[in-house]
Amino acid sequence: MMTFEEFTAKIHKTIDLDLSKYKENQLKRRVTQFMNRYELASFSSFFDLLEKDAHVLSKFRDYITINTSEFFRDTKVYRYIEKHILAHHHSRKPTYKIWSAGCSVGAEPYTLAMLAMEKKISRINITATDYDRSVLKKAKEGIYTKSYLKNVPDQYLRKYFTEDKKQYRILPEVKKNVTFQEHNLLSDRFLTSNHLILCRNVFIYFTYEVQMELVRKFAAALQPGGYLIIGSSEFIPVPETFGFEKEYYSIYKKAL
Ligand SMILES: C[S@@+](CC[C@H](N)C(=O)[O-])C[C@H]1O[C@@H](n2cnc3c(N)ncnc32)[C@H](O)[C@@H]1O
Repeated sequence: MMTFEEFTAKIHKTIDLDLSKYKENQLKRRVTQFMNRYELASFSSFFDLLEKDAHVLSKFRDYITINTSEFFRDTKVYRYIEKHILAHHHSRKPTYKIWSAGCSVGAEPYTLAMLAMEKKISRINITATDYDRSVLKKAKEGIYTKSYLKNVPDQYLRKYFTEDKKQYRILPEVKKNVTFQEHNLLSDRFLTSNHLILCRNVFIYFTYEVQMELVRKFAAALQPGGYLIIGSSEFIPVPETFGFEKEYYSIYKKAL
């Protein structure tokens, strides 16, 4: 009989995602829920199916990585970025480098791009990464239903989107500020010299040790005085250990 550990080891080899770094109970529950859809009772029969059927494998990958997102998710964070972070960036300064890590369908980096455009910051470079290819495809298309846009102020909706049959398409002027890239936080090299990194509602799924390792790597990936923003239910204990100071809510500033 295949154990859960054997199953995750096989998945690691097959889709290059190390599930042993995700929180075990939560992961097990999700794997079992997914298996129930196919009425499968053992990990070995489930793995056989995943090996045989690329479509199910791709669905499983989407399910396990949890892609929920929306524009202006957690509005007060974006208000803070606008007022206290982007406002201090002048166009004389070097290009402002932002990394949206675990960007899902692109709502997060496009929200940042719109805020930068409002602040008339032209020298901006937003790199948005995710492990999951299918969300990156959707992000590049930039077409959303209203459910992703419920927090978007009306003037942004009118200015930065076109509407067609209840689908909202983000304008090319916004798109051109964002570069999407496949990137696995657990195994790929981190982007360097960022001024601002957002990794929100991503590392909550990883074990504590992995979370702390990611925070250490994010600290190294930031310029002095740069910011790391995590999700509202995520937390960095003793941020000073990593050279961070908690500035507000889920926003941490790297020492100068
Ligand atoms: C819940 S979404 C968060 C989206 C966005 N940051 C937000 O807060 O709205 C989590 C994203 O993390 C991505 N993810 C999960 N494991 C990952 C990994 N190992 N490397 C990179 N991205 C990962 C998922 O594919 C998913 O798109």
